[in-house]
Amino acid sequence: MIEFKNVSKVYPNGTRGLNNVDLRIDDGEFVVVVGLSGAGKSTFLRSINRLHEVSEGEILINGESITKAGGSELYRIRRDIGMIFQNFNLVRRSSVMRNVLSGRVGYHSTMRMIFGLFPKKDKELAMQSLERVNMPEKAYMRADELSGGQQQRVSIARALAQEAKQVLADEPVASLDPMTTKQVMDDLARINKELNMTMIVNLHFIDVARKYATRIIGLKEGEVVFDGPVEEATDEVFSHIYGRPVNEDELMGEA
Ligand SMILES: Nc1ncnc2c1ncn2[C@@H]1O[C@H](COP(=O)(O)OP(=O)(O)OP(=O)(O)O)[C@@H](O)[C@H]1O
Ligand SMILES: [Mg+2]
Repeated sequence: MIEFKNVSKVYPNGTRGLNNVDLRIDDGEFVVVVGLSGAGKSTFLRSINRLHEVSEGEILINGESITKAGGSELYRIRRDIGMIFQNFNLVRRSSVMRNVLSGRVGYHSTMRMIFGLFPKKDKELAMQSLERVNMPEKAYMRADELSGGQQQRVSIARALAQEAKQVLADEPVASLDPMTTKQVMDDLARINKELNMTMIVNLHFIDVARKYATRIIGLKEGEVVFDGPVEEATDEVFSHIYGRPVNEDELMGEA
């Protein structure tokens, strides 16, 4: 469970990234966050695992304050939160297996990790994670030999190997074509259902958002202007979130 308690974020230059956000995301939800460019979607996501410090308020992860957590506590809370990026964030020259295993780093001592000594159990878990995204045969290829969609699925496998309870995905399909978008989103949806892993995904395309979300959060200038089940996110609601009618650019079409 993730709780935002009156959270605001003001950047050093005075820009308000988030304004008094107060909401709760329960385990197993598939939340899609939408809004215009600059609305605060990435700020929202990155505040959750404290990649950004918030200026006011508090964020609780499974009942514990990540906002107030110190060194080792922060490290432990972050273990529960997987992160998926638009550009995949893989070590390009390393094998797929190595990349997936890196999801286990938070469970071991620094010294052990310097030598890359992962227990056999971790390797099994990494392989199972690759099976879940249907890529076991790619385990010993170099990450940069894979297509974009495959690389994104490796980063999903990394979050699985991490045994994350919540996954944050910031525009995970923004650099993918419609076919690959479908594969990646289908993987996230399947994992959400099968493992009850909470998904919080920033998406640009409204039709993709509607297809996969159980809940839509609409941001506008750092404020939550819509928060409700996907069934209630009508065209009018999207126009309100965007401050103008929805246009073609916001539909992927084929996914
Ligand atoms: N490091 C920063 N310093 C100052 N302002 C920032 C910084 N990062 C983001 N902002 C500002 O905060 C606001 C929210 O930015 P954010 O990146 O969260 O938007 P976004 O909804 O993710 O946009 P996009 O769809 O373009 O990714 C914007 O006005 C942005 O310019
Ligand atoms: Mg962003």
